[in-house]
Amino acid sequence: MCGIISYIGNSDALQVLLKGLKCLEYRGYDSAGIAIGDKTHPFQVIKAVGRVENLSQKVAQIKPAGNLGLGHTRWATHGGVTEVNAHPQVSYNGKIILVHNGVIENSATLKSLLEGKGITSKSDTDTEVLANLIAFHYESLSALPQEQRFSESVRVSLLEIQGTYGLAIICTDCPEELIGARKSSPLILGVQKDGFFLASDVSAFAGHTKEVVFLSDNEMVHIHGNHYQVQDLNNGVLTPVVQTIDWDVNFADLGSYKHYMQKEIFEQDIALKNTLLGRFSKDGSSAHLGGLQMSPHELRQVDRILLLGCGTASYACRVGEYLIERYARIPVEVECASEFRYRNAPLDKNTLVFVVSQSGETLDTLGALHEARRKGFRSLAITNVVGSTVARESDGGVYQRSGPEIGVASTKAFTGQICTLAMLALYLGRMRDMSFSEGCDFVQALQALPELVHEVLEKCDEPMRQIAHKYANYQHCFFLGRQILYPIAQEGALKLKEISYVHAEAYPTGELKHGPIALIDETMPTVILASDPSMLQKNISSMMEVKARKGKVIAIGVEGAEIPKKAYDDAIFLPKVHDAILPIITALPLQLFAYYVALERKCDVDKPRNLAKSVTVE
Ligand code: G6P
Repeated sequence: MCGIISYIGNSDALQVLLKGLKCLEYRGYDSAGIAIGDKTHPFQVIKAVGRVENLSQKVAQIKPAGNLGLGHTRWATHGGVTEVNAHPQVSYNGKIILVHNGVIENSATLKSLLEGKGITSKSDTDTEVLANLIAFHYESLSALPQEQRFSESVRVSLLEIQGTYGLAIICTDCPEELIGARKSSPLILGVQKDGFFLASDVSAFAGHTKEVVFLSDNEMVHIHGNHYQVQDLNNGVLTPVVQTIDWDVNFADLGSYKHYMQKEIFEQDIALKNTLLGRFSKDGSSAHLGGLQMSPHELRQVDRILLLGCGTASYACRVGEYLIERYARIPVEVECASEFRYRNAPLDKNTLVFVVSQSGETLDTLGALHEARRKGFRSLAITNVVGSTVARESDGGVYQRSGPEIGVASTKAFTGQICTLAMLALYLGRMRDMSFSEGCDFVQALQALPELVHEVLEKCDEPMRQIAHKYANYQHCFFLGRQILYPIAQEGALKLKEISYVHAEAYPTGELKHGPIALIDETMPTVILASDPSMLQKNISSMMEVKARKGKVIAIGVEGAEIPKKAYDDAIFLPKVHDAILPIITALPLQLFAYYVALERKCDVDKPRNLAKSVTVE
């Protein structure tokens, strides 16, 4: 959701903040703001509605200076998108300035308590209430030695609030101090020789330092000059674990691409190569997934698998369900993490839980992970972000290694998740009924995948651009797929909705005649996934049913399995591939379709309205 970057050190904070905010824009982009100052420069708060670019323009006029600063890019929860509601929020007496990611659930109660003491808010935000609460405690703690007063006022305030937060806080009386705190919203401390960073995501200080401390829930970090201390909310001092992270500083470079989504679609071959790297057994018949932290004997005891995720990740889970059931013959259930966390579903005792999350920070997915672990189930994770909360709080798992994904609409992370689940199906399958030669075929299919993805993207790019041009002005679209391609149809519909705001729905192809067919007329294009040759005749019948009602058909077929010309209006033919990689190959033209429709409709592809890449609120 919102993105936080803050800095204290020997350098000028402004450039750090603006660069960091640009990297964090994927987390929210309806407004942005900074606060900056130090011992010699009075603190200034500058905010702007809209993108970080608007803020940069404003900042360029004002030219604020200082070695201490906060930055924030917002995805509104409490209060509309206005400059007053943008962060940083400043307390009633001007002393406390803070940026916040999360939701203060008891803000209404706290607000009326403060109003009873004559303290009122100017904005509609829950964040300003917290700034006022800290400022109120700061005033009441005037008897404390000055070096404890700020941090103590933050600590006692945090004990009074309910909800979630990633926070960076400054006090204008203490220009050499910066405080951070987290509960269910990520916050990472970056440690440099002569400075410190606090950010929602390491990308925000990429290029400055690789030394980081991942704060855990209910932890506070107090930076004072050249020192920092991590503590819990009961004043217990903790020993921070400094980790060195590895990243490619060029990941944010668009190169020759126009959009991150386009870049990420076309780098799927490389991303998948990384996902697969070093993950096959020596005999070439199975996968090797050491991160699961489970012995073959323990894995053999698993009777059921539960896959949990949100949005695109939940569709990857549905593909995983088909793959694992087919190749490992283990029953799989899939549930949206946002549902599972509150449903209290009965689970068999030998159930193995997997949460799937690109960011590793989705609050609903974390909630589901906590619920599964609370019930005592071994809970593993498939995630893309090393050191993310999901990665740290699960019992083990697999990193998908897709590389940073910046475009809000997920593409390479989706195929990376499916690829990881395919390796899991192979690994579990080889422990059960999958023969050596079937295993070898599976491995060869996965090894050939990156090259194939490259070829398919090259081949489909221009035809999908033309098809998108033809259908870009339609207001609705159906996506139909059978079996393992049904979740791919769902993901195709989601991509179109997310970035082009076209109303799109997905159905299992056989369900068309059970209701949705009532909507078919000349204004309704239908994308029919017919790339599974074993279902060819059934799919042709469905196409004919749509055509008979004057609907337009866009067929995604497969080379060598002929579809009569009268059954479709437009078609693209994919190479015939091993069933295990069919979902990935079929997803590619749908990503291109959504991308080009969004371009035709002049939508902001990388930052679609109302969305955020990492949803860290409920
Ligand atoms: C948000 C994003 C989706 C994403 C989902 C899950 O809703 O807009 O694109 O699929 O979160 O994200 P995760 O990081 O957990 O995979």
